Amino acid sequence: MQSTVFTISFVKLLCLTLPGMTAVSAELPSPSNIRITSINMGLVLEWDPPQNHMGNLTYRSEYKWKSIRNSYRVVCLDTTALCCDFTSHLNKFGVYTFQVRAEREGETSHWVETKEFVMDEHTTLGPPSVTLVSSGANIEVSIEDPVLRISEFKEIYNHATFNITYWKEGQEKKVKRMNGIQLHEVVLELEQWTRYCFQVWVVTERFFKQSQPSNVTCESTAKGKDRPWVMALGMFVVMAVSVPLVVLAFWHCYRVVSFLRPKVKLPGHFTVYLLDPQCSSILALQSSPQPDEVYHEVSIMPGGTETERESALWWTEHKAHNQTD
Ligand SMILES: *[C@@H]1O[C@H](CO)[C@@H](O)[C@H](O)[C@H]1NC(C)=O
Ligand SMILES: *[C@@H]1O[C@H](CO)[C@@H](O)[C@H](O)[C@H]1NC(C)=O
Ligand SMILES: *[C@@H]1O[C@H](CO)[C@@H](O)[C@H](O)[C@H]1NC(C)=O
Repeated sequence: MQSTVFTISFVKLLCLTLPGMTAVSAELPSPSNIRITSINMGLVLEWDPPQNHMGNLTYRSEYKWKSIRNSYRVVCLDTTALCCDFTSHLNKFGVYTFQVRAEREGETSHWVETKEFVMDEHTTLGPPSVTLVSSGANIEVSIEDPVLRISEFKEIYNHATFNITYWKEGQEKKVKRMNGIQLHEVVLELEQWTRYCFQVWVVTERFFKQSQPSNVTCESTAKGKDRPWVMALGMFVVMAVSVPLVVLAFWHCYRVVSFLRPKVKLPGHFTVYLLDPQCSSILALQSSPQPDEVYHEVSIMPGGTETERESALWWTEHKAHNQTD
């Protein structure tokens, strides 16, 4: 039965080399479901108690900075809590592994080790904080970077941008997006008397990390200011319409006035003649169909000497009289 012995020792060898197997020398089972929670470069290791185990256990958890130190350092010892906060021991550019084991009265379980964790690459970025200030129909969006636990945000992710989405409250499906915004303050010109909601993400150039979304915040716009070019256009239109109208009106008045009151001063005796009630109808005749019988042609000739004009007048007047008589 040599082959059976060989098979058994082979299985034993296999068990020894497989990680996570608890069969060998430890009586205590190991913690399970070990996991790292890291937000904004804080880091907490969490685990569940060993399955099917009753009784009081304590835990020991340690970390190792890969390529700097070869040995583990203990952070949490003899604790009953199912987590351990490593934040204050870590470096922002560190590459770490973590391990935890269960203990009870001198007995220990096997270690359970995490995968490698690269702080600046694997940590989750929390949401940016967003403040809205409205002024007229504008809303100013002020964004603050997430606050990191063990470093300044800018020291690590110095080329971060923001993705901003916004929508009218109640119209969540009609979202507008502004990606790659580099400024921490953005002023948007929006519709007046409308409530808008905003959500913002941080996107880093390093490792192309996207933060958790900010809380949705909303703000209402009020009455908008008229923009200068709109006012200028309005004034232009008003001028373009009204100026020709005014000019036309003036021109019309001028025509009427100058028609009724010729510039040329009538000689005194002629004015007296025209003002005679019997003759004043001549003014009305000017614009109405002219009757045949009475027709006084008057030519008033500006310029020239007084005598010339008077004689001309006299002549035409005389002639007219002769014709009627
Ligand atoms: C667990 O600890 C408590 C006190 O902390 C003790 O009363 C209890 O007997 C212990 N249980 C076991 C199984 O040792
Ligand atoms: C988001 O809202 C929650 C609860 O309303 C609050 O506790 C949290 O601080 C807010 N986060 C930010 C970044 O303002
Ligand atoms: C942010 O914008 C980038 C493009 O600039 C895009 O690839 C990415 O998916 C956006 N992320 C979110 C969360 O909107």
